[in-house]
Amino acid sequence: MSRDDVAPKLLAWYARHGRHELPWRKQITPYRVWVSEIMLQQTQVATVLPYYDRFLQKFPDEATLADVPLDAVLQLWSGLGYYARARNLHRSARLICERHDGHLPLERGALCALPGIARSTAGAILSLAAGQREAILDGNVKRVLCRYHAVEGWPGTAPVLRQLWSLAESYMPRHQVADYTQAIMDLGATLCTRHQPACGECPLRATCLARATGRTQDLPAPRPRRKLPLRNKAFLFLRREDGAIFLQRRPPVGIWGGLWSVPECASPVEAEAWYLAQTGHVPVTMHCLEPVQHTFTHFRLTMTPVLIELAAASRVMEGEDSLWYKHGQTDAPGLPTPVARLLSSLSNNSGNTPL
Ligand code: ADE
Repeated sequence: MSRDDVAPKLLAWYARHGRHELPWRKQITPYRVWVSEIMLQQTQVATVLPYYDRFLQKFPDEATLADVPLDAVLQLWSGLGYYARARNLHRSARLICERHDGHLPLERGALCALPGIARSTAGAILSLAAGQREAILDGNVKRVLCRYHAVEGWPGTAPVLRQLWSLAESYMPRHQVADYTQAIMDLGATLCTRHQPACGECPLRATCLARATGRTQDLPAPRPRRKLPLRNKAFLFLRREDGAIFLQRRPPVGIWGGLWSVPECASPVEAEAWYLAQTGHVPVTMHCLEPVQHTFTHFRLTMTPVLIELAAASRVMEGEDSLWYKHGQTDAPGLPTPVARLLSSLSNNSGNTPL
């Protein structure tokens, strides 16, 4: 198979087996494609689907998204993870209104100047929504190309990336650019999967170097393993007599930026001192609950929940960036998933037994 045969094979396969029903593949607009691409970074299609529908219903275009407070976006994003994506979407919508008259610009340089859009996402928007001959290189496409050409080395390094971009561009057809982009992503997502790829059904099987050399399991090379540093934090659940828990809004940047969470201390011992400083009393009842682990990109966190039952007269610092939250209330604020889980366990539990 020559280089020119790859796109026609993929297009023929896509016509029969592609995922044509995905919502961002219908009523295609640059905005709808942009939102889908941001949600699909680091997140599976099945997880994204309900969030995507809710997002489009609530924020149908750039201007609507730019006009709402960040909190409304974070609230909708709650549970999807990687909240920088939501902050970037919101910030970008405002920039688009300032710089581009409320319409996502259809030009690579202008797109890449927006927060959260790098070259591959720009390529996806331009090819899928505007039929421009711009390549993409997301995780799926990297896997397909690494295998097809038996490219060695972890695709996170600059030389491997350069090689993959060059390959990705070389296969872009002159016509049916959008379908081709969808096709190569779908091939990676449905057949050329990380584990147990379905090579027997692959339209490129006859000329795939990884298959020919029995290396599909080894390619692409995994990221070299780094041991993540471990951190510990006590998470303070201050519970009022009516069951409500005290939440504070986190600073806009950093882990869980802009989301709502409980106060944190370095350790349960410090929790007692923190409480004393806030209220002038020592806590009457304070229990350490079963620690839970959460893995971030750069570290692993052991969260020790500390439950403090407040006597009626107790006061904690209350202000603009704090609120009392009752599990299950309808206007739930944007919560990080591990904190939402702890709140849920706590509401089903008297607090005297481990969560
Ligand atoms: N992953 C990234 N972009 C995608 C898309 N448009 N469709 C399905 N999965 C994707």
